[in-house]
Amino acid sequence: MNLLRLLVAALVAASVSLPVAARELPPVLELERADIVVAKGADWSLWAELQEPAGWPQLQGFVAPKGEAKAGLRAGDLQGWSPVALPLDGRTEAMQAIGAAKFAREAHFRARAGIGEGTLLLDTPGRSPAVGQRTTLYLTRTFELAEPASVVSLQSELEFAAGAIVYLNGVEIIRQQVLPGAEAASFSAAVPTMPTFVKATSMERWQRTSLAIPPTMLRAGTNRITVALHRHPDGGHRAFWFDMDLRLHKRAGFIKTPYLQGGDRDWVTVSWETNVAGFGGVRWGLAPDRLDRRVVAPEIAGAHHEVTLTELPPNSTIYYRAETDAVKGATARVDAPVRSFRSQPLKGETYRFIAYGDVRTNADIHAALTRRMWDDALAADARFVVNTGDLTDLGAPWDGWQREFFEPALPIMSRLPFFASLGNHEGNHESYYHYMALPGNEAWYTFERGDAAFFAINSSSDFEEGTAQWRWLDGALAASKAKWKLVFFHHPPFACTPERKPGDLRVQTHLVPLFEKHHVDMALLGHDHLYGRSRDINGVRYVITGGGGAPTYPAESDAINEVCISAHHYLVVEVAPDHLSWTATDIDGKQLDAFSLTKPPAASSPP
Ligand SMILES: [Fe+2]
Ligand SMILES: [Fe+2]
Repeated sequence: MNLLRLLVAALVAASVSLPVAARELPPVLELERADIVVAKGADWSLWAELQEPAGWPQLQGFVAPKGEAKAGLRAGDLQGWSPVALPLDGRTEAMQAIGAAKFAREAHFRARAGIGEGTLLLDTPGRSPAVGQRTTLYLTRTFELAEPASVVSLQSELEFAAGAIVYLNGVEIIRQQVLPGAEAASFSAAVPTMPTFVKATSMERWQRTSLAIPPTMLRAGTNRITVALHRHPDGGHRAFWFDMDLRLHKRAGFIKTPYLQGGDRDWVTVSWETNVAGFGGVRWGLAPDRLDRRVVAPEIAGAHHEVTLTELPPNSTIYYRAETDAVKGATARVDAPVRSFRSQPLKGETYRFIAYGDVRTNADIHAALTRRMWDDALAADARFVVNTGDLTDLGAPWDGWQREFFEPALPIMSRLPFFASLGNHEGNHESYYHYMALPGNEAWYTFERGDAAFFAINSSSDFEEGTAQWRWLDGALAASKAKWKLVFFHHPPFACTPERKPGDLRVQTHLVPLFEKHHVDMALLGHDHLYGRSRDINGVRYVITGGGGAPTYPAESDAINEVCISAHHYLVVEVAPDHLSWTATDIDGKQLDAFSLTKPPAASSPP
């Protein structure tokens, strides 16, 4: 049934992929929705080890039993457990839940206010757990399930302070930040695949989504989830934090349909997310019925797939189809319909791209803009999208990425490779790096298309003179021979919104001199939720395009910014041998601005 549905969708998609046929945004495959069986903020029961070595009313990890013993609890076997409302935030709540009677020495616990949300110190001189001492809490709750056989996979988002192991009916299903082999309590806070400038936690709190968990341990009737929750082993700081949900998927399919991201010159990466684990591959070719090339992802079964197509012939319509061989489950394959995109232009060719930013918070506005954008992109033969940051309200939560960024953007991302830059709202969180597939380190990178070179900058990370990013930018701008140089990043040096004027002084001090020295033509910016265009500032035009969905800000033009308009909008930018021009279109289709920079066709950047 599912395969038939996909086949029909593929045939429909193939017929509308032809460049001249479609004026409408192509329908995207339905995303699979999950049933939430355990919601965030639900009530749980809490249990703590209460043996008291050396008179210390401890929640001692080293006396805690093996997690399996706790996880195997049967319903009703809850002696010693105390009800607790989530989110469990800090140590006092745990103390209250366990009950004062068990903590005769609770006077030793003193909350120290003002340290931060949920952060309580154990202020007990001479009695604080030693550095490295392990502490574990257990939480448990049940949920009912009538038909476990109808479930193809589980999804869970877990929020925790240091480390956690989750058991479903006594079987471990999630292990986060806990060293392999450690039963109850050592931590691996390092994320080995991430460079040091990437943040893995938000406010010292981990937030992890596990997808495609096999449902084989589910039971008909009552099911029990038990969590072993660890505390930092550093002497008491940052006590506990916990919340989680559990979702059931009943049909194998897409959570994120295939989306494109660009590389340098002639490659494009296709990424997608499935709700069952599998191996990803992409077939591609120059006609929808002749997908004669196939590229497969590394042989690691997972829910997130990234496959890079290389050596794309320039200036062509590339047809592609993402396929997933599911490891097991109700459906053996999760395949997408055939989609197409236009590959990179050659030097000397005129082409267009879309620019917008600050899409966070209002998914409906973001979606309305992408629908309009698609019509323009098709009419203009646009080749890619550039985004100036703030893709989602917060960097860590899975749902925010899904609702605010991916669901509205997936339709255009299936046809236009997407080049992102980091805003302040992503918090430089590792989720951005997980979902993006961009050149270089993905935070700052460069690529060329036709006569233009693009430089993405992370203005939420260090960029002061002498830092790694500054040195990279100085070198990359100097090395570029492109006729047009465009930078794109989040924080405008010259603000349009009154309360942010005159603008970001760090950018003015450390980046603007580089732009001027290396003859950057245009800077695309976000952060101010509006459209803005500066006058010529020593050869550079600063264009703010931060109207992608977030609530608009007041706009006020001034001596630097000739145009400031408060509106949801996007840009269509045209790159040509003799001009760089753009239009700004608002959400109702009204043109807000049109502007053009010119250079003699034969000229190149000044030396
Ligand atoms: Fe913003
Ligand atoms: Fe921002």
